Order: sequence, then structure tokens, then C-alpha cells
Amino acid sequence: MQSLEKEAAIAVQYLTTISKEVEAKFEEFLPSEKDRPCRLHEAMRYSMFAGGKRLRPALVHAAFDLFGGKGESVWYAMSALEMLHTFSLIHDDLPCVDNDDFRRGKPTSHKQFGEATAVMAGDALCVLAFELMGKTGNAKAIEVLAHLLGTYGMIGGEMTDIECEGKPVDFETVDYIHYHKTAALIEASLEVGALLAGASDKDVETIRQYGRSIGLAFQIVDDILDIVSTTEELGKDAGSDVERGKATYPALIGLEKSRERARELYEESIKFLDGIDRDTSIFRAIAAFIITRVK
Ligand code: IPE
Ligand code: IPE
Ligand code: MG
Ligand code: MG
Ligand code: MG
Repeated sequence: MQSLEKEAAIAVQYLTTISKEVEAKFEEFLPSEKDRPCRLHEAMRYSMFAGGKRLRPALVHAAFDLFGGKGESVWYAMSALEMLHTFSLIHDDLPCVDNDDFRRGKPTSHKQFGEATAVMAGDALCVLAFELMGKTGNAKAIEVLAHLLGTYGMIGGEMTDIECEGKPVDFETVDYIHYHKTAALIEASLEVGALLAGASDKDVETIRQYGRSIGLAFQIVDDILDIVSTTEELGKDAGSDVERGKATYPALIGLEKSRERARELYEESIKFLDGIDRDTSIFRAIAAFIITRVK
């Protein structure tokens, strides 16, 4: 067993490679700033090209590869997942939600373009994502994605997150928020990649469970970084959770126990991988990256 840091370095390499390739696809799939409505197209591109780890497209790609997927349809899905994630970030930053000023090292969409444009840029990325998913011709993948994005997924988590601001919350509610606002799109990335590859029902379910564990770990680490890191390092507003009285793991159980919980979820995710009779090393590396990342 390699050290977590060595494992994570393998994931960083993978993310770097995928980022370059998928960003070329964004260039192709995003509307031109020369087409009307120019300002809206500019705002969509601004947020999509601001950077980011591109974790979700990498997960789609890795799951597609793992189950022997062939063909180009995966690039539509990879781009769609990053568009949906970016839509969630633009709306998450709005004054009526988290009211944050920085994202991916730049002013947030509403700071740069104004609220109306930011709302529409998010909407437009969401719709374009499903247009691209349509090109995969895989109805099941589209259905799964819509479900995990909607009120039983990301949007459900975001709604509950804002409803719980400044209120005492129990463990079950924080888990509900985190599994929905964050783990759902991570699960969806893996499930969509596996479905496009034609994986068996059992394999789809196993990789989804892995995603659920790393997805929760991802948000716990995000909560920790909000406290221990800086705006410069994160490229987004640090300290924003305490300021808004967010329902987070550190608020509930403290930093040290939150770190332990992330580590337990890492172990849990690896156990799921043991249920897949293929080379899952890249997924081990990604899980290690998720719990050791500093941004
Ligand atoms: C931030 O996601 C929002 C959460 C779900 C915690 P990422 O940390 O993946 O953001 P980018 O894509 O790298 O900017
Ligand atoms: C949001 O969680 C997850 C999304 C669905 C965007 P956070 O509100 O903690 O994400 P950050 O810290 O702003 O990236
Ligand atoms: Mg939020
Ligand atoms: Mg936020
Ligand atoms: Mg956060």
C-alpha cells in the first residue's frame, strides 16, 4: 500500500491530463461570445474556463474506461457534468444563497456580470448540459443524472443547506445536506460513465456506492478547508461557513473528528472497490486525493 500522498499524486496527474482534453471540448460545445446574447455566452465561458479541478469529468472518464467503454459519447457526458457542477457553483455563490465574492480565483459570476446574468448563465449551462447528454442517446443515463441533480439530489441538498443556516442541526440533517448537495453529482458522474460503458447493474451500483462515500468525504474536506485555509489558497471565500452559520461537519463535531470521519469514508470507499473485479487503482488514487487535497 502506497502512502496516501503518493496515491493522491497519481490522481493529480490524471486530473491534469483530463482537464486539458475536456477543456478543448468545452471550447467546442460552449456557444460563441460572438453570438447573441453575447454577454450571457461570455458569462457561461467565464465560469467554465476559470479553472477548477475537473473532478466530475475525470470520474465520468474513469468509470467509462473501467467498464470498457468505447467511442466519443463520453466527452458529451464529461462536459455535461462539468457544466452542471459549474451551474451549481454560480447559483451557490449568489447573494440570496451563500453570497460569496470569489470562485476559482476570480470574482464570482454575479460580481462580474450582475445577478440577472449570473442566474441565466447557471440556467443556460444546465440546459446545455442536457442537450449534450441527449447526444449520447442513453436515456437511462439522462434520467439518472436529472434525478441526482434535482430535488432528490443536488438541488434538494442546496435547499436544505440554506433552510438550516444559523440553526442547530443534528447529524442526520448534516449528512442529508452533504450527501445531496455534493455526493449526488459525484455519484452521478460515476453512474453516467458506467452506464455509457454498458456496465452491469451490479457494477453500476457498486461504483455509485464508492461515489457516495468519496462524495461525502469531499464535502467534509471542503468544510474543513473553509476553516483552515485562506481565500488565496482556495480561490474562493474562506470562513464563509462560520460567517453564515452553515450546517457543517466541523461545526457539529469539530475539526479533528471531521478529519477522522473523512478517513473512515476513504476506507469505506476502498471496500466498495474491492467488489469490482477490475483494475480500480485510479479510483483508489482519486479517493486518496479527495481526503488529502488542500484546495
Ligand atoms: C466545490 O467543488 C463545491 C463543492 C461541492 C464543495 P470543487 O471543489 O470540485 O470545485 P472546483 O470545480 O474545483 O472549482
Ligand atoms: C456547495 O457547498 C455545493 C454545491 C452544490 C455548489 P458549499 O457552499 O460548501 O460549496 P463552496 O464552499 O461554496 O464551494
Ligand atoms: Mg453552499
Ligand atoms: Mg458556497
Ligand atoms: Mg464550502
